[in-house]
Amino acid sequence: MPNFHFTKEQARELTYYMLSLTNEEMGTYYASVRSIPGPGYGRQLFVEKNCIACHSIGGVGAKGGTDLLGVNKRHSPQWIDEQLVDPQFVYPGSSMPIYDLEANARKALVAYMDTATPEDAALILSHKTLALSPQDIAIEAGKQDFARFGCVGCHGTELQGGVPNPNAQGGEVPSLLHVSDDYTKDEVIAIIRNGRVPPMEKADGPTPPLYMPPWKHVLSDEDINRVADYLWSKQQKKSAW
Ligand code: HEC
Ligand code: HEC
Repeated sequence: MPNFHFTKEQARELTYYMLSLTNEEMGTYYASVRSIPGPGYGRQLFVEKNCIACHSIGGVGAKGGTDLLGVNKRHSPQWIDEQLVDPQFVYPGSSMPIYDLEANARKALVAYMDTATPEDAALILSHKTLALSPQDIAIEAGKQDFARFGCVGCHGTELQGGVPNPNAQGGEVPSLLHVSDDYTKDEVIAIIRNGRVPPMEKADGPTPPLYMPPWKHVLSDEDINRVADYLWSKQQKKSAW
């Protein structure tokens, strides 16, 4: 790993970025101390905590609960913050759960509610209620594994590859969008299981810094099959030109 001479701030930003690519929950340390309490993080929490199960935004969502459109105009940020800390305090007997959110998470939720639109609520709902076939579920699980086990770090979130890999053939980590042109699914499963060292561009040059690690001791066969299903669901035909 070369020293890129990042400033502390840059190194931290990169860490968030990489954590955001994995589906790991951010460590509480990062979440509480460092994550930017903006509407993006707030939306993520709003989805994760399933707030839409009880609330609507501009009429879209659960009909029973309070509509959250314009809640920031009705109440001060402090008031909403207290509502999130202890729903019972303002509304004794409230059915709203206590979430035990840390301060930045609450700040982020307040920021999200300030920007939330009925269109976005519809989007959140459409993702929730999508009925998935068993095949879709395997693909989705493979996608999660691809992120969780760090494949995204080298191959990219969209499988696009492109991370520089000096003196490897092609000079970069390959895209995985066309593997079905070159390999059968079983061959790809074998590459994932056993790993591979990329051939060198110049035989007398330096060893390329990135290679494909073997995953057979890390991932179960079931996980690897699901990752392969995911890769296959994303294959693009080579364009004719
Ligand atoms: C189980 C249902 C339920 C869930 C889940 C829920 N709430 Fe609530 N929430 C309520 C109810 C009900 C009220 C209205 C107060 C009351 O009657 O208890 C409320 C009130 C609020 C209010 C105050 C609105 C106002 O104008 O008075 C805010 C803000 C709020 N909830 C945000 C959230 C957020 C953010 C989440 C997700 C982290 C969430 N709620 C999850 C049921 C829920
Ligand atoms: C440390 C970087 C790195 C990580 C992490 C990584 N790969 Fe790779 N991968 C590579 C490199 C470099 C190659 C090219 C090897 C070669 O040229 O022979 C490669 C090749 C591949 C290939 C063959 C592509 C081709 O066209 O030859 C597949 C499939 C693949 N990786 C899947 C995965 C999966 C799935 C994961 C996660 C479980 C993963 N990779 C994680 C670096 C990585």
